[in-house]
Amino acid sequence: MNELNSLYDLIGGETNLRALVDRFYDIMDSAPEAKDIRAYHAKSLTQSREKLFMFLSGWSGGPSLYIEKYGHPRLRQRHMPFSIGEAERDQWLWCMNKALDESELLPSVVTHLKTSFF
Ligand code: HEM
Repeated sequence: MNELNSLYDLIGGETNLRALVDRFYDIMDSAPEAKDIRAYHAKSLTQSREKLFMFLSGWSGGPSLYIEKYGHPRLRQRHMPFSIGEAERDQWLWCMNKALDESELLPSVVTHLKTSFF
């Protein structure tokens, strides 16, 4: 994808990406279905919201905010402290898929993001 047609642009840039990440964490914060994965996170989700937004910005072809601030994402390593099995994975994906289904993103973008997150 070139810069004019990056996934970031297809999502609708910062505004829509932030809205998606916020909705994702709002769902995680409130749904009983996600209580185990919620418990892995700090009381305040502010930093998680900012970090996921910054990471996805660069990952989707927008500004590399996460790398500029924290360096290489090393996501595998950063998830190591947590015991993440299928149940935890499914809870994370359930929140994200719900946030995507509620969004007004193009269906093709929703499908692409669901596949990528899985
Ligand atoms: C398999 C399901 C997943 C689970 C259960 C999970 C769980 C977690 C937990 C418990 C944290 C630490 C709390 C925090 O810093 O917010 C975290 C951090 C993070 N996760 Fe995940 N995660 C999952 C998938 C993903 C995916 C698919 C991405 C990228 C698209 C992602 C990106 C991040 C980022 C950027 C951070 C912050 C890392 C840092 O500390 O700088 N995670 N995740």
